Amino acid sequence: MQDVTLHIAWGATTLARLAAHIDVLDADERARAARFRTQADRTMYCAAHVLLRHALSREAAPAPAHWRFRRGPHGRPEIDTNACPHAGALRFNLSHTRALVCCALTHGESIGVDAECRRALRDTQDIAARFFAAEEASAIAAAGPPGSAAAAQAFQSLWTLKEAYVKAHGLGLAMGLAGFGFQLTGAAPAQIRLRHAQAAPPAAHWRCLLLQVDGGQCTVAAAVTAATGARFRALLHTADTTLEPELAACTPATALLPAQRIADITSPPPAR
Ligand SMILES: CC(C)(COP(=O)(O)OP(=O)(O)OC[C@H]1O[C@@H](n2cnc3c(N)ncnc32)[C@H](O)[C@@H]1OP(=O)(O)O)[C@@H](O)C(=O)NCCC(=O)NCCS
Repeated sequence: MQDVTLHIAWGATTLARLAAHIDVLDADERARAARFRTQADRTMYCAAHVLLRHALSREAAPAPAHWRFRRGPHGRPEIDTNACPHAGALRFNLSHTRALVCCALTHGESIGVDAECRRALRDTQDIAARFFAAEEASAIAAAGPPGSAAAAQAFQSLWTLKEAYVKAHGLGLAMGLAGFGFQLTGAAPAQIRLRHAQAAPPAAHWRCLLLQVDGGQCTVAAAVTAATGARFRALLHTADTTLEPELAACTPATALLPAQRIADITSPPPAR
C-alpha cells in the first residue's frame, strides 16, 4: 500500500501568508520568484515553494531552508540526496495556480500532481480533438455542447488527470497526451480507468484521484504507481473553514482518508 500526502493551500490570505516566508527559499528560487512580472504570480510561486519545503520537513530531518533540489533530464525537480542524505526515498511533485497551490509527497514511488482552476476556455473541444486521446475528446463532446459548463468540467477533469499522470512520469511535454486515455464512469466519486498500452508500470498499477476544491472552483489530481493500492491523506491549508474538498473520482484500490486542517505549517518550526 502506497501512502501519499497531499498538501493543498488555497485562498488569498493563506497564499500571501505562505509567500511571506520567502526567507526559507534558496537563491535559485528567489531569483525565479523575482522574474515573475506580476505580484500574483510571485505570490503563487513563493507560496508553493514555501509550502513544499515545510511539507518535506514534516517527513524528514532537514529544516525548511535546508532542502536542496536538482532537476532531472526533463526538468522534473527532485530532492538532491547528496546534499540531503537524510531524505531517504522521499519524493514530491508540486503544482501552482494563482488561486491554489499544492504538493504531493511519497516515500518511494514517483508522484505527479496537478491543479487547475476554472477559467473560460471556448475551444476545449478543439484542444481535446487535437491533443487528447480520441475517447477523451468524445467524452467531452458527449458531456455538453461547446461552451457549456458540463463540457468545461469534463475537459478540466481530464486535463488535470492527464497532467498529473504526465508529471508522475517526469517527462513533461515530451510524453505526448494522445497515447493514453482516462475514462470517468458513474456518479461522484466516479471510477477512473486508465488506458495506456505502453505504460511502464502497466496501466492497472496506477492509482489516481481527482478532487474538487474550493466549492468546485479548482480541480486537483494526483497519480502514483502502487500495484496493491494507494491511500491519500489530504492536509488542508486555508482560512476557509467551511469547504471540504470533494472526491470527484478515483481508480480502484484508491482511498482518500478524512482531510485534516493545518492552521499554519510555518509555525512553529518542526522540532527535530
Ligand atoms: C512543467 C509541466 C510538466 C507542468 O506545468 P504546468 O501544469 O504548467 O504547471 P504546474 O504548476 O502544474 O507544475 C509546475 C511544476 O512541476 C514541476 N515540474 C517541472 N518539470 C516537470 C517534469 N518534467 N515532470 C514533473 N514535474 C515537473 C516543477 O516543480 C514545476 O514548478 P516549479 O518550476 O515552480 O518548480 C509542463 O511543462 C508540462 O509538460 N505539462 C504537461 C503537458 C501539457 O501541456 N498538458 C496540457 C493539457 S493535459
